[in-house]
Amino acid sequence: MSGEKKKALFICLGNICRSPIAEGVFQKTVNDMNLSDQWEIDSAAIGSWHVGNSPDWRALDTMKKHDVPYDNHARQIISEDFNHYDFIFGMDEENMRDLKKRAPKGSKAKLLMFGDFDPQGDRIIRDPYYDSDAKGFEKCYQQSVRCSKGFLEKVDTL
Ligand code: 4NP
Repeated sequence: MSGEKKKALFICLGNICRSPIAEGVFQKTVNDMNLSDQWEIDSAAIGSWHVGNSPDWRALDTMKKHDVPYDNHARQIISEDFNHYDFIFGMDEENMRDLKKRAPKGSKAKLLMFGDFDPQGDRIIRDPYYDSDAKGFEKCYQQSVRCSKGFLEKVDTL
């Protein structure tokens, strides 16, 4: 296929739990569909606390368990992202409020809730950072699989 790549950015509060899983799963999904040359994919944080860090070990473990390769580090969203990316996904309502506040007027990116593409209707990708176990990370993985497929089925109609 010729033409410009479509660009997707996954956002959460810290960029060490949910958005790395969403990014990794979305990348794997497009790879498996032989669409990787058509997509530019990244993730970023609302906050700056974890900039430069690898994901939380439970996020890395969950991705390893499901053969999702991941080698990215946390960064904070910048205002240029809102004109570079076509789609910016938040994980919960708080992310969406923060994204809307930061988006420069008239910027290009569509701000979307990732969970809106879940055919099972589980809209919120809950923050598992403060959990005492890894169950929330597995759930985030499963939601990301469904939402990645659901979004890719709809993307040409958006
Ligand atoms: P994430 O989880 O937004 O899914 O990466 C969090 C990670 C760190 C913090 C909050 C949420 N924190 O407050 O440091």
